[in-house]
Amino acid sequence: MDDSQNMVGSRAGDAAAFGGRVVVVTGAGSRAPGVGNGRAAAVLVARAGARVALLDERAEWAQETRLMIDTEGGDACVIPTDVSDADSCAASVQTVLDRFGSIYGLVNNVGIGGPPGTAVEVDPDAWDPGMQVNVKSMMLMAKYCIPHMASVGAGAIVNVSSVAGLRGGIPSLLYPTSKAAVIGLSRAMAAHHGRQGIRVNCVAPGMVYTPMVSSRGMSEETRVARQSRSMLGTEGTGWDVGHAVRYLLSDEARWLSGVVLPIDAGASAGTATAYPALPGQLATDGALPVSARP
Ligand SMILES: NC(=O)c1ccc[n+]([C@@H]2O[C@H](COP(=O)([O-])OP(=O)(O)OC[C@H]3O[C@@H](n4cnc5c(N)ncnc54)[C@H](O)[C@@H]3O)[C@@H](O)[C@H]2O)c1
Repeated sequence: MDDSQNMVGSRAGDAAAFGGRVVVVTGAGSRAPGVGNGRAAAVLVARAGARVALLDERAEWAQETRLMIDTEGGDACVIPTDVSDADSCAASVQTVLDRFGSIYGLVNNVGIGGPPGTAVEVDPDAWDPGMQVNVKSMMLMAKYCIPHMASVGAGAIVNVSSVAGLRGGIPSLLYPTSKAAVIGLSRAMAAHHGRQGIRVNCVAPGMVYTPMVSSRGMSEETRVARQSRSMLGTEGTGWDVGHAVRYLLSDEARWLSGVVLPIDAGASAGTATAYPALPGQLATDGALPVSARP
């Protein structure tokens, strides 16, 4: 990963924001060296004073995240979990309660590419397992966490979708279908649990460059091409996603629920229009062009 992945800042200053609240992050490891969305979210909430439960089926990948948090003086533990399995989710939530005593936040971050192919090509037998990891897992984790949030009248959930769930253009069918389902699930859950003091929001990352992407191998040419598809024309990282997750979990977002927040340099909102303004027109930054200024 490049240096932008080390956009760390300092623990001092914002450590009181979560005041020891407990946040569960699923998929808190990263599949390759570097910082993915789940790892970034975990490190950033820990830095803001949360105690963090790192759930991952690959405990050794989550241990790397715990080391990062430990190094900064934070409090985290790793709980091996398969979030697509109900018993595993229930047992892990109980472990969180045994270790920390409460649950305030849940980040449903686990998501996989799933089987490739269009409706014609995709392996039907691989469809249900893919939906189970990407969608059912979020219901399961919420099912076991929400009663504990509701019992104290406070909680915040962030589900990780993708811009692939907002618009077409992805070569496979399962991934965008599952990510669109995550958006519907988030809105429905927000409506069900708002009166219990629980906020449910969703982030939709765009083409961020994370270990999930780099580990598949990507040419420099493709990497540059995907950056240039957004309004800003720049590359995002796991930290960009992590910052948004931390905000949505925090009290600063106390009046936000049911939101779907794209983190994509504007890619899902439209296309870049960096053309020179004609005399008398507003420039793209909203300012009058020099030729039209009084
Ligand atoms: N990286 C991108 O470009 C991008 C873009 C849009 C959305 N997303 C979404 O972001 C999320 C993940 O991002 P990341 O960077 O943290 O990915 P990552 O692949 O680096 O890490 C995900 C972690 O999830 C774990 N995991 C996988 N299946 C699991 C299961 N059944 N139970 C428990 N843990 C499991 C893996 O072991 C891994 O440590 C996914 O929901 C993905 O769809 C990523």
